[in-house]
Amino acid sequence: MELALELFTKGGGAFFVRWGHVLAGIMWIGLLYYFNFVQVPAFAEMEAGARNNAVDKVASRALQWFRWSALATVIMGFLILYLQDQLTDMKWAKQASGVSIMIGILLGLTMFANVWGVIWRNQKVVIANARNVQAGGTANPDAAACSRTSLMASRQNVIFSFPMLMFMIGTSHFFGSFDAQNRGYYYGISLLILIVLELNCLGVIGGKGQNFTNWMYESHKNAIISASVLLVIYYALFECIMKP
Ligand code: HEM
Repeated sequence: MELALELFTKGGGAFFVRWGHVLAGIMWIGLLYYFNFVQVPAFAEMEAGARNNAVDKVASRALQWFRWSALATVIMGFLILYLQDQLTDMKWAKQASGVSIMIGILLGLTMFANVWGVIWRNQKVVIANARNVQAGGTANPDAAACSRTSLMASRQNVIFSFPMLMFMIGTSHFFGSFDAQNRGYYYGISLLILIVLELNCLGVIGGKGQNFTNWMYESHKNAIISASVLLVIYYALFECIMKP
């Protein structure tokens, strides 16, 4: 077992886990962008019968690749940590690159929880309703609310994805040279931003209607603007706090 592990880690295995992690991540986030930038605007222009058919045949398949690639990304992400001995020895979290990957992982895990706990849970109802209506059954009155709940979480994931990817890539290629002395402030502020945004997309702060706090979820353009702003905020804070 030990020999196999050594062959794996020294024989390029660790490198290909990293490769697999990025491959699965591309699939996950690629489908997230497909849903948000292509499917939702297209469905809004379709008449009900065609939309139900597309939910049944297209969205259900896309969601399958989406949720399982999300799981594969997380598993291989943790495998990278394991192979770099980062699960047993947490000293890395005290370095600037450690702060970067830690915040990236927390954003990624929150996105993962949204995929399985919010988006998939609600889309199951939407798909079942589309199939039932196609078969001549009566529409489920809860389907529209489920659709809205998953849309808010999905657009929030678009918003999280910009800084998440900055941290993933920045860990080995950019943030390593920063100073980690004030990392406590960075951890605290970053976490606070993450929690507030997550609670907001769950409707805990401003409900699920079209109000001020939900502006960022009203169109994919608003979500892209918000994602860019969040990217700049996380980066600017890193520059200010981690470079004394
Ligand atoms: C959700 C849980 C996730 C975990 C636990 C995780 C974990 C990791 C770890 C440990 C690294 C290596 C950092 C380093 O030492 O350089 C990494 C890098 C990376 N991750 Fe993730 N990750 C997650 C999500 C994602 C997602 C959603 C993407 C989307 C594309 C992604 C893309 C990347 C990329 C591009 C790298 C950089 C590889 C490199 O520069 O060599 N990760 N991730």
